[in-house]
Amino acid sequence: MTAVVDLQHITKVYSTAAGDTLALNDVSLTVEEGEFIAIMGPSGSGKSTLMNVIGLLDHQTRGTYHLAGQDVSQLGEADLAQFRAHSIGFVFQSFNLLPRASVLRNVVLPLQYTGVPRLKRREIAEEALRQAGFPVKAFHHKSNEISGGQMQRVAIARALVNNPALILADEPTGNLDSRTGEAVLEMFQKLNAQGRTIVLITHDASIASYAQRSVHIRDGQLYRGIYTAEAETADALQDATDAVLPSSGGAA
Ligand SMILES: Nc1ncnc2c1ncn2[C@@H]1O[C@H](COP(=O)(O)OP(=O)(O)O)[C@@H](O)[C@H]1O
Ligand SMILES: [Mg+2]
Repeated sequence: MTAVVDLQHITKVYSTAAGDTLALNDVSLTVEEGEFIAIMGPSGSGKSTLMNVIGLLDHQTRGTYHLAGQDVSQLGEADLAQFRAHSIGFVFQSFNLLPRASVLRNVVLPLQYTGVPRLKRREIAEEALRQAGFPVKAFHHKSNEISGGQMQRVAIARALVNNPALILADEPTGNLDSRTGEAVLEMFQKLNAQGRTIVLITHDASIASYAQRSVHIRDGQLYRGIYTAEAETADALQDATDAVLPSSGGAA
């Protein structure tokens, strides 16, 4: 079986006038088809950098990345954009919807350039909204006139329409109250149960505990994950996490 994500010895260096920052330090990670994995780490640990590499939004300095079997360093800009659009469904903390467009229009949009006929696009979008638990009666509401929890369901539906190999979610509950956030995380679990491959990025152990497995990033280095099932509570997951990480400063 081909891994959906296969990162080998990935290094990312940001060079600025102030000097170089080693944001990712020899990161290797594979995510198999059907996995739901959380990447967990505190602010500044390299989560966004890793998400940008996995999401084909930025390129590593060194190392290889295969997404769905494709060596992405072999792709030029235009092919990369196409490949990204078809392979990855993004869900962001800030939803990133077109505020004045309808819910349905937001979800149809990624299908615009795929050659899917117009009527079929609408059908696919409606089905994705239903899968994301969005109420049919609000399909035509403007997306700035719905609640935050509903906005994130629209964003999840939008992430599903191209049937991507990977759903990549960056702090998807960061702008939601805890009850709404739980419902969204349960939605990810449901999608995973239907076979979707999900990478969830978070700083919070209680959020990571919804995944099947978590890996931990500190100072740009990745550490062995704890299988969530082994840790019965988020606190236990945090303790187990602390146990595999070097003591403060040790990762540098
Ligand atoms: N564009 C950039 N230019 C220079 N340094 C950056 C840039 N983006 C991130 N960094 C640095 O890389 C490290 C990791 O940052 P980031 O990936 O944003 O972490 P996180 O998302 O976990 O907060 C930090 O030291 C940050 O200051
Ligand atoms: Mg970040």
